[in-house]
Amino acid sequence: MERKFAHVLPGEHIYKGRLFFGYSPQEILDAVKNFNVREDDVFIVTYPKAGTTWLQEIVWLVVNEGNLQKATEMQVYFRSPFLEFKDLVLNEVGLDLAESMPSPRVIKTHLPLDLAPSGLFTSKCKKIVLFRNPKDQCVSYFHFYRSSSSFGNYQGDWPEFLEMFLDGHVDHGSWFDFTKGWWSKKDNPDVLILFYENMKKDLRSEIKKIAHFVGRSSVSDEIVDSIADHCSFESMRSNPMTNHHDVYSIDKEISPLLRKGIVGDWEDHFTTDQSERFDAEYAQKMAGTEIPFQYHI
Ligand code: A3P
Repeated sequence: MERKFAHVLPGEHIYKGRLFFGYSPQEILDAVKNFNVREDDVFIVTYPKAGTTWLQEIVWLVVNEGNLQKATEMQVYFRSPFLEFKDLVLNEVGLDLAESMPSPRVIKTHLPLDLAPSGLFTSKCKKIVLFRNPKDQCVSYFHFYRSSSSFGNYQGDWPEFLEMFLDGHVDHGSWFDFTKGWWSKKDNPDVLILFYENMKKDLRSEIKKIAHFVGRSSVSDEIVDSIADHCSFESMRSNPMTNHHDVYSIDKEISPLLRKGIVGDWEDHFTTDQSERFDAEYAQKMAGTEIPFQYHI
């Protein structure tokens, strides 16, 4: 059968209707379902390119009361494991790392709601879900697909990538599916919904919101300020513990992980027709959700 899209992800496979790259193999996705959730875990839940790394660094620092010393000694991806990720070259497994970690753990996942660990909602553990304007997220994903060998160093063009994104033919499946699923949990007291755009607008307020949510309201204004400074785009981009420059699979000459870090970059990529097509798909697929995305700030 002819493929709809030419690009092939390394080790790609379909798991419960979603496309995954080989770095989330079936056995890991099966095992994640039975992951042993702890009551004091904090889960960072995002669709790829929402600003996951940014939120991981912030939440890890909040939970560790602003311990900048330790944050500068260890990579963020070792302090906050990516649950469903198995590094095929280094043979490092996020699940194993998470299991071996002392509490409190800050764990990253990109899984849609129905593939997330069963224990997530039988436990009082905290789930922080970060959303971002999907047009910006699509643009960010496009550049990451180009730069990363785990994604097969995408050689296609932007219009084709946009079609792949709208079709859910990207690693971890459809943005619409992910967003609808997690948005349905918005009223759960152990779920905090955040928006990338609000973090850009007033990072200190969002850090305080996070601190309150994870039971660290005692974190002082000084610590909040130091976390905000440490987590600005510029400082995270120059920080070897957060910028992922050492990650073998990312060619930062093509596009670094911390690429632009702005709101509204989609306007430099989408044509008017593409934007209208995206809006129409959004209206159809997200009908009834009324998520307050901000397209222009
Ligand atoms: P851009 O490609 O639009 O620049 P993720 O961590 O989920 O892979 O998301 C990566 C996106 O988050 C990138 O977006 C990156 O620049 C942005 N990002 C990472 N750290 C950031 C920060 N401190 N401030 C603002 N944006 C940040």
